[in-house]
Amino acid sequence: MCVLFDYLYNVPMAKPDWNPHQYLKFEQERTQPAIDLVARIEVETSSKIIDIGCGPGNSTNVLLGRWPGASIVGIDKSQTMIERAKQDYPKQDWRLLDMRELDIPERYDVVFSNAAIQWVPDQSQLLGTLVGLLADNGCLAVQIPSYQKMLLANVIERVALRKPWDTLTDGLNHMPTFHDPGFFYDVLTSQVQEITMWETDYIHIMDSQIDIFEMIKSTGLKPFLDTIHDETDKKRFEAEVLTEIKIAYPAQPNGKVLFPFKRLFFIAYK
Ligand SMILES: C[S@@+](CC[C@H](N)C(=O)[O-])C[C@H]1O[C@@H](n2cnc3c(N)ncnc32)[C@H](O)[C@@H]1O
Repeated sequence: MCVLFDYLYNVPMAKPDWNPHQYLKFEQERTQPAIDLVARIEVETSSKIIDIGCGPGNSTNVLLGRWPGASIVGIDKSQTMIERAKQDYPKQDWRLLDMRELDIPERYDVVFSNAAIQWVPDQSQLLGTLVGLLADNGCLAVQIPSYQKMLLANVIERVALRKPWDTLTDGLNHMPTFHDPGFFYDVLTSQVQEITMWETDYIHIMDSQIDIFEMIKSTGLKPFLDTIHDETDKKRFEAEVLTEIKIAYPAQPNGKVLFPFKRLFFIAYK
């Protein structure tokens, strides 16, 4: 568990929570993978569904669209995300829970997670927990960014390793954990009957490089911004990242900027 310290007083500080407003600025780009994953789930009737790391409820809403009669619960450990989900989808069942500590008796036909399990370091143990939530013939459906294969990873790392950021931000030690498909296959193969996996590049067409920066500010940059304590330093760090983004992602002749975003999907049938 990450504990931040106030560097002046050496006392533990609360880790900043997620920012649903910033996150949802790119709702369409973030929700499309959930739509694509749901479309490939081969479970016609589903009465109980759980959305793990539901965030502000955008992915849960996709599940509701496919199985309108199902009982669907969204769980997330972020207070701000759960509050936003309650505000936008007041009729749904939202619970403030940590996916690493899911000690619940219910079993589900679909255990779903879009862009969330990478935030848990021990995904081998986590997948065991998630498979344990499946009803007979249920399925586990997961999407995670293949961040480690993206140009963006080099861009952020380059800035973070540079002075003074090498000492002013501890972000590299708090990054999400990304694995290749073989890791997930090996963990799941003895626990389920069948596994389907695929990887897709979404080419987001952005109005400018600032949009790339704005999209990653609430996710990929979060570990870095969370560990820079001075607001002026934060702004300087952000400016350096934006400069590198401009170099790495040049504009097209019409001014638009293509932002390829690679994502890994898997569906495991019990
Ligand atoms: C990138 S958002 C994904 C939100 C939504 N599922 C979507 O499709 O856009 C990741 C979410 O995972 C949640 N999360 C991270 N670690 C978690 C944990 N240990 N338990 C529960 N939720 C967690 C975060 O709070 C955040 O809301």
